[in-house]
Amino acid sequence: MVTLFCSARHGGLRLGKVNVFPNSEALNHAVASAIVKCAQHSVALRGRFSIALSGGETPRSIYQLLHQVPFHHQMPWQQTHIFFTDERTVPPDHKDSNFGMANSALLSRVPLLQENIHRIEAEDPQPKAAAHRYAETLEKFVPRRHQLPQFDLVLLGVGTDGHVASLFPGTTILQETAQLVAAVMVEKLKTWRISLTFPVINHADNIFIIAAGSEKASVLEEVFAGNSQAKFPVQQLQPEGNLSWFLDKDAALKLPSSK
Ligand code: 6PG
Repeated sequence: MVTLFCSARHGGLRLGKVNVFPNSEALNHAVASAIVKCAQHSVALRGRFSIALSGGETPRSIYQLLHQVPFHHQMPWQQTHIFFTDERTVPPDHKDSNFGMANSALLSRVPLLQENIHRIEAEDPQPKAAAHRYAETLEKFVPRRHQLPQFDLVLLGVGTDGHVASLFPGTTILQETAQLVAAVMVEKLKTWRISLTFPVINHADNIFIIAAGSEKASVLEEVFAGNSQAKFPVQQLQPEGNLSWFLDKDAALKLPSSK
């Protein structure tokens, strides 16, 4: 593993720690291991661990690793509270459901308490109502620290268009400051999404951004080039806690010190 830079500020985004791995297997192991460490630390400190899981393809193998040796036995499952960064407006058993993916890859295979699994009810025909209910869920189940609910860990992927969670370029949710969770029409996908907003993501104690594959190299190149003009949603992140990047070699191909 190579650590590229620590705590540099690139444009608006403080980069934090950037870890690059030779392949996706090493990347997945490192992320699983870092999740376990964060969980153990949070439980030792506060008696519980609140994590927001992302969807997409990249985290699937990480979720699958977490129920295997050695991670399965290292995770404090009984004290772990599961949330989601975003959801597609489909029922939970739909192939596109982020909950569905995490459930089959991990949640149904580990001794989590059912009442500690908080999914976004995105099958609701009124996405705004579902977003409002999820905001209430956060208020109720994620401990408030300094005015806002604070996750111990938020996992984020990044799209080739620079979106994180369901914060897509050109959408109104990017400017949302009042709501913790919002529904947003994503015109290019012709669908509604429900997503955590920047204020609650930024407020997390830890954020991990995970990216694998050469198709992510160009967007990461621009993010790490540090232009002051934020072009991509990922550049709008202003983490108040720790930010760590976990990249495989292909995703990091165009990063300054990887050339
Ligand atoms: C989703 C996500 C989304 C995802 C990125 C990266 O619901 O799709 O939460 O933000 O993390 O699109 O997705 P991949 O891992 O599939 O590239």
